[in-house]
Amino acid sequence: MMSYGYDPRLSEGSVKCPIFQTSTFTFRTAEEGKAFFELAYGLREKRPAEDPGLIYSRLNNPDLEILEDRLALWDKAESGLVFCSGMAAIATTLLSFLSPGDVIVHSDPVYGGTEFLVHNILPRFGIQRIGFLAGSDPDAVERAAKEGQGLGRVGVIFVETPANPTNGLVDLRQCAAAAEALAQS
Ligand SMILES: Cc1ncc(COP(=O)(O)O)c(C=O)c1O
Repeated sequence: MMSYGYDPRLSEGSVKCPIFQTSTFTFRTAEEGKAFFELAYGLREKRPAEDPGLIYSRLNNPDLEILEDRLALWDKAESGLVFCSGMAAIATTLLSFLSPGDVIVHSDPVYGGTEFLVHNILPRFGIQRIGFLAGSDPDAVERAAKEGQGLGRVGVIFVETPANPTNGLVDLRQCAAAAEALAQS
């Protein structure tokens, strides 16, 4: 995990990954640049064995990509994304998966910034919420998901565990099972 995703030969043999202080990257040809942009903006599917090229540090950057790959490996996750702040990560994730008319099912309580987002900002975009108490009975998430379904499409089950400030724990397996049941229904 400590060296995963980095090839020293790409950086003059440096054992540790240098910090790439650049906003933009060059392309070998205009065609290569075009292909990189098409992929980055989702204009086409990735070709077999195609390596997405670097374009612009806000989209992708060697240091961020390596960190994301290593965190995904550590968490045994499919992939990872890093952000400059917690609220940037939470807001971006929720806005990616929720649309007007959707419902977010979330553990309760949540961090103050998240609570403000869920209670005050998301409703302005037509997104309702159903909370379930972190640390309560294991079926709470399933009940909340069913209740949410009555209001609209449940687009996200958001969990904060341990909860702030109660330290209530949420069973992630139960949440995954509730999400699976929603997907099947
Ligand atoms: C559980 C939780 N979510 C979100 C945040 C927000 O993170 P940031 O201050 O980096 O935006 C915090 C910050 O302490 C947090 O504890």
